[in-house]
Amino acid sequence: TTLGASAAARDGRFFGTAVAASRLSDTAYTTILDREFNAVTPENEMKIDATEPNQNQFSYTNADRIVSHARGLGMQVRGHTLAWHSQQPGWMQSLSGTALRNAMINHITQVATHFRGQVTWWDVVNEAYSDAGDGSRRDSNLQRTGNDWIEVAFRTARAADPDAKLCYNDYNTDNWSAAKTQGVYRMVQDFKSRGVPIDCVGLQSHFTGGSSYPSNYRTTLSSFAALGVDVHITELDITNAPTAAYTNVTNDCLAVARCKGITVWGIRDSDSWRSGESPLLFTSSGGKKAAYTSVLTALNNG
Ligand code: G3I
Repeated sequence: TTLGASAAARDGRFFGTAVAASRLSDTAYTTILDREFNAVTPENEMKIDATEPNQNQFSYTNADRIVSHARGLGMQVRGHTLAWHSQQPGWMQSLSGTALRNAMINHITQVATHFRGQVTWWDVVNEAYSDAGDGSRRDSNLQRTGNDWIEVAFRTARAADPDAKLCYNDYNTDNWSAAKTQGVYRMVQDFKSRGVPIDCVGLQSHFTGGSSYPSNYRTTLSSFAALGVDVHITELDITNAPTAAYTNVTNDCLAVARCKGITVWGIRDSDSWRSGESPLLFTSSGGKKAAYTSVLTALNNG
């Protein structure tokens, strides 16, 4: 069987991968993509600099290529990402205040409308929390428009595409004891209590080695789920792809009913943003690694 089919057999979960449009012409790449996965996340092609390179001029060619490839094979698409401090085009980096807030709202409206009906989940806001260890928001031009920018982003996305599941996505939110995890948890709790539309939380899960996988990861997943949101593992990669850590992550997701799926951040090690660390499930020449077998075995038996 395959990662996607085995995940689907576990209460309809997804097993996805990040996809780069530039690699869709590589048949060694698409052979694995088409065989193994039932969900995709465009790695860079839906980011703000890609979709609105000049203000109010939208560019969807590369994103549309990925979406049509994926949907042609029945795969679900995760949109990544509508509002982020990083990979902003130059024109947006130079905006502030009301002009930036309005540009963010316009961007979300236009992009979510373009992909309406094609995107199952949106990472509406990405990486808005600080690594300072105090559970606070990250400073950014968006944050300086006012603390309500995140809820405005979610409300805007809901209005543009009422059927998409709207997610908050971040990294270093895996350890339940971490202040950053608790900061995001309090935001989701607050949104749920006030009726701000949020459906899911993405834990990126970029682990720097087996030891950085926290033993309380399952508690993190189940604690977010208990707030009434789905949880997704959205960008999984683990330095040197240790089999034990990949098995544990998979079993943790399977143990939490609202953990609806796992996405790895690339297919072959050579496709990874951390290609020197061999963190993925396939070798650079497309062979299945031991970690692949561990994940598949967990999906089938865990
Ligand atoms: O496409 C241009 C190319 O034309 C140019 O010549 C070259 C020179 O630098 O850059 C190319 O763009 C690069 C792009 O990847 C495509 O390869 C960018 O420089 C590079 O910054 C970009 O990196 C991406 C990174 O996000 C940017 O923040 C990675 O591919 C992507 O894997 C990574 O993904 C992020 C998630 O979105 C959010 N979570 C963390 C994760 C890892 O950093």
